[in-house]
Amino acid sequence: MLRKLAVAVILLCSMALICNAEDTEPCPAPPKHYAELGCMPIKDEGHRCPNRYECPQLTDRDGQKCYFNGNIYEPGTSLSQSDQELVSCSPACRCLNYTSDDSCVYQYKPAGCCSSGKVCGKEMDKLAECYLDGEKYLEGQKMYPNEESCYSCHCQKGFDNSTIVGNPNCREINCGIELHNAGRVAQGCIPIYFGTDRCCPISWRCPDDADTVIVEGRLDVDVSVDPKMKCTFGKLNLNVGDGVS
Ligand SMILES: *[C@@H]1O[C@H](CO)[C@@H](O)[C@H](O)[C@H]1NC(C)=O
Ligand SMILES: *[C@@H]1O[C@H](CO)[C@@H](O)[C@H](O)[C@H]1NC(C)=O
Repeated sequence: MLRKLAVAVILLCSMALICNAEDTEPCPAPPKHYAELGCMPIKDEGHRCPNRYECPQLTDRDGQKCYFNGNIYEPGTSLSQSDQELVSCSPACRCLNYTSDDSCVYQYKPAGCCSSGKVCGKEMDKLAECYLDGEKYLEGQKMYPNEESCYSCHCQKGFDNSTIVGNPNCREINCGIELHNAGRVAQGCIPIYFGTDRCCPISWRCPDDADTVIVEGRLDVDVSVDPKMKCTFGKLNLNVGDGVS
């Protein structure tokens, strides 16, 4: 009996796969904070793309520690090298007295926020050139593409400007939400984005006792909702499409 069931399930899954095979549109990327907070995309049966996310419990974190990228740091310790490279400006960066000088170009490593040196004068002629959004850059420089505003690229010999996402010389910017907004995250606040939820939030909205649920955006007010397809905000339970007053 159990084996039959297993076969049926496998069949269902493969049927779903076949049905969806024609649908080759790329799935929408998750909102930035879902990715940074370690929320897992879940594809319930019949969904080719994630239809919901399961986020780790964030409100029970120890306020005396730092959490980042799945790692926990004790007070006074530094981020690991690889975690430091993820956050564009970690405390490991120091402000140096660099004067702007047209005859030099500051050199950056692919990751990390501070420049690692400079190339000046005639030496600059030896550097490879890159073009992005009609601008010229020299090898070692950082570039910020217009289209993908949450990516930064690194000018290297052979840089291909035809694509940003997936380009080996471009990387997604990490907003460091867990580090810079740990207090907000612990309070269960939600990020406010400007224009797109694909880059860093500009502000936060925290739960308030006076909040109420606005159901106007809900598609079917009467239909009983799958308990998995709910969000919590403070004391409120929200269904897909609901808002908060
Ligand atoms: C920074 O460097 C410039 C030129 O090298 C120098 O004139 C200036 O005093 C420096 N500033 C500080 C705060 O050290
Ligand atoms: C892409 O790079 C080529 C040369 O490698 C350059 O001619 C072109 O202008 C660049 N495109 C943009 C949009 O910058």
